Amino acid sequence: MSAFRGPLLHFLSEPGLGTPDPASYSYFADGLLVVADGRVQAVGDAAELLPTLPAGTAVEHSPEGLILPGMIDTHVHMPQLAVMASYGTQLLEWLETYTFPTESRFADADWSAKQSKVFLDLLLAHGTTSALVFSTSHKVASEALFSAAHEYNMAITTGRVMMDCNAPDGVRDTAEASYQESRELIARWHGTGRQRYAVTPRFAATSTHAQLTYAGKLMTEAEGLLMQTHWAENKAEIAWIAELFPDRASYLDVYDHFGLLGPRSVLAHGIHIDDADRARLAETGTRIAFCPTSNTFLGSGLFDLASARAANVEVGLASDVGGGTSLSMLVTMAEAYKVCQLRGQSLNPFQAFYMATLGNAKVLHQEAETGNLAPGKMADFLIIDRAASPIQQLKHSAERDLSGILFDLMILGDDRSIRRTYIAGQCRYDRDAVQGAAHA
Ligand code: GUN
Ligand code: ZN
Repeated sequence: MSAFRGPLLHFLSEPGLGTPDPASYSYFADGLLVVADGRVQAVGDAAELLPTLPAGTAVEHSPEGLILPGMIDTHVHMPQLAVMASYGTQLLEWLETYTFPTESRFADADWSAKQSKVFLDLLLAHGTTSALVFSTSHKVASEALFSAAHEYNMAITTGRVMMDCNAPDGVRDTAEASYQESRELIARWHGTGRQRYAVTPRFAATSTHAQLTYAGKLMTEAEGLLMQTHWAENKAEIAWIAELFPDRASYLDVYDHFGLLGPRSVLAHGIHIDDADRARLAETGTRIAFCPTSNTFLGSGLFDLASARAANVEVGLASDVGGGTSLSMLVTMAEAYKVCQLRGQSLNPFQAFYMATLGNAKVLHQEAETGNLAPGKMADFLIIDRAASPIQQLKHSAERDLSGILFDLMILGDDRSIRRTYIAGQCRYDRDAVQGAAHA
């Protein structure tokens, strides 16, 4: 058993986009998190819980920190770390020029294994403990990511990318191979430890009818699968989809037609959409992953968060690295705030932290195990440094209410704010140990 003392915040329900509902979160100014066998045993006020600890229990005290549940990323690409910060293009040219060539390297099993570990280590260093991840169209890349995540006991959902047309040699597959290899990966990894499989057609433009039919079929072949793809990100993309699928009423109707909408489907972006799309998403329970740093970096457009929530569409927050410019969910929250500002909306910090934790867990159907620190859940959590930069130190020395503390963190925070990251009660990232080693 071990215990972690300090200010502690987690969410119980959605705070909302307007004035945050005070019943939606629990905040303990001097809290205690008790962990046993990788799970949360108790959470509450330190004064109440400390006397209940068995004698000799180690208590780590971070009075100036903040204990938070691990953050969750609902859309990120493992093979695209090296694609980050690629200059001067929008989506379709960006894919051709930078992304497809970079992804073709993942045909190599050794490269895939090395990059998978680098990717997970970076997620942990940015305070992300779970994610829904795109791999590549090579089976070995998904294998590598699953096995690295399993070794870390990290809850990762990923899948082999399906793309059998409009893509170059090196990343293009066939409908048949994508179906067979997805089935093999599902049999090997879906439900192994904390790993889950997501059927992953890249987007409608890079799949034939035959492949999209296979994707729909895969979704019926095992319980608990997720489906991830891209949708309505860029205007040239949308015009191209209309040419490729002249029989379909809309871009969303393409996915609908192949049985790819539903509560376990996560569509990245959904920027250029209308009320009919939102109504169909809500009716089917289909989710959107809002990827603000990617949407501004690639010049894709401004996602309309308030309209989606008003229509009861579930929305997760996501980095979309390497279209996105940071793996940090704190940086992602800051960009989401700015996108909302440009739309005349305000994203309050309670809603932003909710989205990055319990909200994203719900979007990915993993809230039974993650998302907050309720007793019985897996102990995936963070020790945050609230004053990791000079500006934050300056602001930290003034009296701040919880809203101010959270807003400072979301606007000024980044990977420096993550002091330690725990997976199932085990410390998997320690900023000060890493820095100490670098300076030794
Ligand atoms: N649409 C199809 N593939 C991709 C991708 O890799 N990144 C983004 N942002 N959009 C896509
Ligand atoms: Zn993406």
